[in-house]
Amino acid sequence: MDIVCSDKEKQVLEKIAKAATALDTPCYLIGGFVRDKIIGRPTKDADIVCMGDGIALAHKVAEMFKPKPQVAYFKNFGTAQIKLEDFEVEFVGARKESYRSHSRKPEVMPGTIEDDQNRRDFTINALAISLNKKDFGKLVDPFNGVTDIERKIIQTPLAPAQTFSDDPLRMMRAIRFAAQLRFTILPETFAAIGENAKRIKIVSQERITDELNKIMLCERPSIGWDLLFKSGLLQLIFPQMIELHGAEYIDGKGHKDNFYHTLQVLDNIADKTTDLWLRWAALLHDIGKPGTKKFEEGHGWTFHGHEVVGARMVPKIFTKLKLPLNEKMKLVQKLVLLHLRPISLTKENITDSAIRRLLFDAGEDIDALMMLCEADITSKNKGKVKRYLQNFELVRERLYQVEESDRIRNWQPPVTGEMIMQTFGLAPGKKVGIIKDAIREAILDGVIPNNYEAAYHFMLEKGKELHLQAVE
Ligand code: CTP
Repeated sequence: MDIVCSDKEKQVLEKIAKAATALDTPCYLIGGFVRDKIIGRPTKDADIVCMGDGIALAHKVAEMFKPKPQVAYFKNFGTAQIKLEDFEVEFVGARKESYRSHSRKPEVMPGTIEDDQNRRDFTINALAISLNKKDFGKLVDPFNGVTDIERKIIQTPLAPAQTFSDDPLRMMRAIRFAAQLRFTILPETFAAIGENAKRIKIVSQERITDELNKIMLCERPSIGWDLLFKSGLLQLIFPQMIELHGAEYIDGKGHKDNFYHTLQVLDNIADKTTDLWLRWAALLHDIGKPGTKKFEEGHGWTFHGHEVVGARMVPKIFTKLKLPLNEKMKLVQKLVLLHLRPISLTKENITDSAIRRLLFDAGEDIDALMMLCEADITSKNKGKVKRYLQNFELVRERLYQVEESDRIRNWQPPVTGEMIMQTFGLAPGKKVGIIKDAIREAILDGVIPNNYEAAYHFMLEKGKELHLQAVE
């Protein structure tokens, strides 16, 4: 099989072949590296499977490099890893499973290349290329993985129920590959995901979330989320998302399907940014809607306060999904909370004060917020979309102008609490806070400009109101 490798990759593969010959250990390139080379995608890491001791082979290969790279190995799994300059190579001994009559647990034993290929997740991931002297470069493709690549099909090499039962995460991997590669999961394989979905419960949250993040980073993440929904997996791993699905009707009045609206918003933002967290914000922006849904007579469906409820849900969802509980979570939470604010600024007669408040609340995330709001426009009516976008353009201009003159975006109080205490000889306490807040409010309301001089005078005035004496 002709695959295109860089000179560096060729040199490494030749060294591996040499080491394998020296140890008399047949070995093959296998898995994602082969798949991606055939597809023509960029590759990162290479997996080598050998008929023998993977750790010994890794050590032999390492000896051929100067300086000698470190070999990280995991004795229990029989795997070893070498980190080279720009790619990583992982070595493993081929394995097969055999079932003893007295135990339902399989025993893993050394096996042939065919045994190893049988145990892999998908036909497109079970392709191997020989690194052996006698047939170097020969493709070993017992399950017609190349044909499946050409047909853009994802299917398991063995009966899907068996492959999924070996590692239920593979159900999510199938969906992730379908989304990443824009392949179709064979109906029989997809049906088996539905039948075995419950087994996902035995998989660690970290591995599940790893797949969710990979789906999130796809060109069109909606493909993956929709497949998760249709397979029944979503219900088990992220039930709050299911609540968004469907449209209810009362008196002939319906609301939009918030699940598919959300997926559309996610794709829209994915067109603009590869930032994982902005994509999570898009996915979660309406997560508070089911909890706030009401039908109001004469008015129709409302979701009052869904942004507040949604923002409150964000830390819980991040905790459950084991996403980081750091400033990234805070960013997502902030965007969910503020996602309606720019829309409220598209109305007429908006004061500078309202614009300043948004700049203050969004801070340095104002651009991200505007991006989310624009992605939130999912009307099918092109005229409407155009009009909304134009309105947002006007909001952007106002934001720009007000920021130019008032510098609110990264606002720091021009008069600090420290200065207030010094001026009035105060100890830390309530009064300092009252004055500080009053200065901030006066600046945001445009009562005083955002500078030291004005803030200082305002502080003295406010001090008088509170019967405080300036001590200097
Ligand atoms: N594999 C498997 N079952 C799994 C995980 C991995 O059979 N649950 C096999 C597949 O043959 C896969 C290879 O191990 O190709 C390497 O796995 P991994 O590095 O996780 O995935 P890649 O296929 O390389 O793809 P990606 O790097 O995009 O995750």
